[in-house]
Amino acid sequence: MSAKIVSLINMKGGVGKTTLAIGMAWELAKTKKVLLVDIDPQFNATQWVVKADIYLDWVKNKHTVLSIFQPNGPAGFHHGNQAAAFQKPTPVTSIIHVQHSGSELHVLPSTLELMKLDAAPRGTENRLRVFLERVRSAYDYILIDCPPTASLFSYSAFLASDAYLVPVKPDPLSVLGLPLLDKAMLDYEERSGQELPRLGLVFTQVRQTEAMRTTMDQVRREYPGEVFDGQIIQTTGVAEAVEDNSPLQSFHKTSALLRAPLAKICAEFTDRAEYV
Ligand SMILES: Nc1ncnc2c1ncn2[C@@H]1O[C@H](COP(=O)(O)OP(=O)(O)OP(=O)(O)O)[C@@H](O)[C@H]1O
Ligand SMILES: [Mg+2]
Repeated sequence: MSAKIVSLINMKGGVGKTTLAIGMAWELAKTKKVLLVDIDPQFNATQWVVKADIYLDWVKNKHTVLSIFQPNGPAGFHHGNQAAAFQKPTPVTSIIHVQHSGSELHVLPSTLELMKLDAAPRGTENRLRVFLERVRSAYDYILIDCPPTASLFSYSAFLASDAYLVPVKPDPLSVLGLPLLDKAMLDYEERSGQELPRLGLVFTQVRQTEAMRTTMDQVRREYPGEVFDGQIIQTTGVAEAVEDNSPLQSFHKTSALLRAPLAKICAEFTDRAEYV
């Protein structure tokens, strides 16, 4: 087994990247071994998947993705815990196992302290790749939830990935992020000397309005053959599912509307991922 590693990225914030990443991670985890990697300093994915008390306990003496980027971090960097700061992160001390509805999902958690990592030494961008190379034989899929910025974190995620997936909120202003992302990927190719294939685009937070229908048609024309058939509609109950640490497909307020679309998106995803 060697995992397919896929980054979810869009330069526009708040379009539903994290929501899609978590929905897909739990969906794939029904039958596959899945690792979700949170590299966003806002750690929204971590907060959703890992219960607060378990997270607070974990960071007392275990690692987050910060330790992957900075394995020799100064004492006190890791939530004031010197013991953890001096122990190099391993898969066992960095990956949290979470169970829900009979599935198991593994999470490499993030932390707000990731924000402190501004002046990182050269080579830092390769550390995530090296770590994921080490664990990839244990997984079928590794999904990386990226922040909406062209940062060290996103660059590291690209270097570690086999492909990327673009969640798109199809409103006229949010799609302005797409050319920016195309540009960021060109910059990445120039800088790294390698190409990262795009797996496709997935519409998120969809409402059946005239404006959204028009925008979706326009995106389908601009990215022919790339838009997934499955899409995530906008619905109430998402915030409550987050608060309840529940997957959307099993939470009582969202499951009826989102279970089938997430299954469809993941079927398309696994098909496309075969070829990268
Ligand atoms: N399908 C949906 N229906 C209703 N609300 C949604 C849906 N998807 C996302 N949201 C809400 O929209 C907000 C942004 O979603 P999310 O955090 O997934 O976006 P993001 O692209 O990861 O944001 P960021 O750029 O900050 O990382 C959240 O409050 C989330 O609960
Ligand atoms: Mg997010």
